[in-house]
Amino acid sequence: MQEKRIIVVYKSKTGFTKRYANWIKDELNCRIIPVEEFNATNMSSYDIIIFGGSLHTGKIIGINTLKNSLPTLPDKRIIVFAIGAMPPIEEEIKKVRKDNSLDDIDFFYFQGGLNYEKMGIMDRVLMTGLKGFLRFKRNKTQMEQDTYEAIKSSYDHSSREQIRPLLEFVNAR
Ligand SMILES: Cc1cc2nc3c(=O)[nH]c(=O)nc-3n(C[C@H](O)[C@H](O)[C@H](O)COP(=O)(O)O)c2cc1C
Repeated sequence: MQEKRIIVVYKSKTGFTKRYANWIKDELNCRIIPVEEFNATNMSSYDIIIFGGSLHTGKIIGINTLKNSLPTLPDKRIIVFAIGAMPPIEEEIKKVRKDNSLDDIDFFYFQGGLNYEKMGIMDRVLMTGLKGFLRFKRNKTQMEQDTYEAIKSSYDHSSREQIRPLLEFVNAR
């Protein structure tokens, strides 16, 4: 059987998505590039493009670069993975997929974490605002309480075994 030619393209702000992208690259022994180096005209040597980006207010960062190029990549298999702070709750993952118009694209979600130290100033301001709002909100719902507990400080829930379903999916192609 002919070897599959694969490339991983990623967009990461504080390093979680980059870490997952590198784990996938290591396992599939393929090329990896940040989305800034992505150019649809240079994709002819690949059969599978795996794109990963982190979630910011429900949107997968960097995905528009890929989406804008889809009409010029009709013969490629596209796989998208998203990294977020939320735990992998099926309903929430479905919502992310829908909100990012990925119903027709193979999609995976892996949990990352939060890293306040590496966050840019705007992101830190946004997260601090959300933290403050939730902290002082009266009659918090369970979801709001859980979110507040989760975002209080930095944490890392990334793990290599989370990529296993994606690897199995790629290897079955
Ligand atoms: C402003 C902001 C908005 C975020 N929105 C979401 C979100 O909607 N859902 C989620 O699960 N995580 C959200 N996160 C958390 C990031 O997705 C998470 O920290 C991720 O691991 C970052 O990956 P990266 O370092 O590759 O960018 C948000 C973080 C920031 C700073």
